Amino acid sequence: MPAIVVLSGAGLSAESGLGTFRDTSGLWARYDLRDVATPEGFARNPQLVHDFYNARRANALASEPNAAHRALARLEAALGLEMYCVTQNIDPLLEQAGMRRVVHMHGQLMRMQCAGCGHRWDAPASTRADDPCPACNGPHTRPDVVWFGEIPYYMDEIAEALESCAVFVSIGTSGSVYPAAGFVQIAREAGAHTVELNLEASETASQFDELRQGPASAVVAQWVEEILSAHRDT
Ligand code: NAD
Ligand code: APR
Repeated sequence: MPAIVVLSGAGLSAESGLGTFRDTSGLWARYDLRDVATPEGFARNPQLVHDFYNARRANALASEPNAAHRALARLEAALGLEMYCVTQNIDPLLEQAGMRRVVHMHGQLMRMQCAGCGHRWDAPASTRADDPCPACNGPHTRPDVVWFGEIPYYMDEIAEALESCAVFVSIGTSGSVYPAAGFVQIAREAGAHTVELNLEASETASQFDELRQGPASAVVAQWVEEILSAHRDT
């Protein structure tokens, strides 16, 4: 029964140099998501999709966690299982900042899956559409990432956490993609205090009790310090 549920989006990793999706220079301004983030796009041109994720994997491997990632890791170290951290992000920066339990609802850039036998494994730096599955040797390997139209991972576990938390914090997400954009409403109905930490108001900002605007590296670190000092006083 976590006291705090933290949801994060691309804005958490923006200051680490990883692109967001819907900002003016975001990924979806440079790629048509229907080509690189849908099952139909993958069926049409799997190598284009492998190349898209190879570039994002190289970018992520060259990036460092920022102060927001590190602050969340400090919070988890203090709260343990009282904190439930779910992210829409597929990068490994929260783990690199020292977090032990990160729920990647959209999958992970550093993992691969076989659509044939379901096997999952750590991704090499670069992948090709004709790489065989290391388990079944079949030709159906793909990034272990959730695409538009697919069902996100861990939804039952996430719903349970949202329905029992006292505080729900959303960091760096535009609130434009469901089901993540609907999490604040579930938390509100469970009586949680809801906080949005974002560079600017998201599409769901009006549903939050508290809005703090600014770069994640500043507003997340500030918010975590307040929680930690209150936690120390208890
Ligand atoms: P959605 O409701 O946001 O999108 C609905 C449809 O609109 C999608 O099929 C999408 O192709 C299309 N669309 C949205 N924005 C568009 C744009 N800018 N240009 C062209 N078409 C656009 O998403 P959904 O289909 O309900 O997604 C289901 C799940 O897949 C969600 O959890 C979503 O977050 C996830 N997802 C993950 C990734 C990823 O890269 N990890 C990418 C996309 C979606
Ligand atoms: N600090 C805090 N927030 C920031 C920063 C920053 N430095 N930079 C950008 N943001 C905010 C933007 O204001 C925006 O609200 O991060 C958000 C980024 O929104 P999107 O680009 O839509 O990314 P996200 O919300 O994570 O997208 C959700 O859509 O394409 C799918 O699966 C993909 O997980 C992704 C999902």
